[in-house]
Amino acid sequence: MKVAIGCDHIVTGIKNHIGEYLKAKGFEVVDCGTYDYERTHYPIYGKRVAEQVVTGQCDLGVVLCGTGVGITNAVQKVKGARCALVGDVSAAVHAKEQLNCNVLGVGGRVSGIGMIEDILDAYFNAEYVPTPEKEATIAKIDALIQRDDYIGDDHFFDEFLEKWDRGEYHD
Ligand code: RB5
Repeated sequence: MKVAIGCDHIVTGIKNHIGEYLKAKGFEVVDCGTYDYERTHYPIYGKRVAEQVVTGQCDLGVVLCGTGVGITNAVQKVKGARCALVGDVSAAVHAKEQLNCNVLGVGGRVSGIGMIEDILDAYFNAEYVPTPEKEATIAKIDALIQRDDYIGDDHFFDEFLEKWDRGEYHD
């Protein structure tokens, strides 16, 4: 199984750990960045991971930022992505078994490394078994997003990044 991973600069080390952890379990890992600790913007990496998954280049994705909130919100805006921000094992199982979530999100600064490993294990070991009820629910969720003209557009955020560089935005 091929897994895309991505993060912002706040949690690059934890993303690297997740990559190694998954590789040790036999997964093929595609690291979508960021690759260092230089300040960057989590929507870029959420978009990259989501694109890998919705285009079928990867089977599943894992994203993280400090809280997990920002990057999972970005992933959710990509058509075909179903992302769950998970902080415990029960939610990880639910995300896969009930909603067939194709991207798992964690908060690198708010969940301990041991919990993150347990969440990964629970999510990747859980199985989605389709039923008409589950499929109907998922279809309703997926129907909320229609747009996909940004897929593969690596300059999608250029306008926003120029504003960041000009100092128009602040953390
Ligand atoms: C830093 O940009 C921080 O806001 C981010 O890592 C995350 O916690 C957002 O949800």
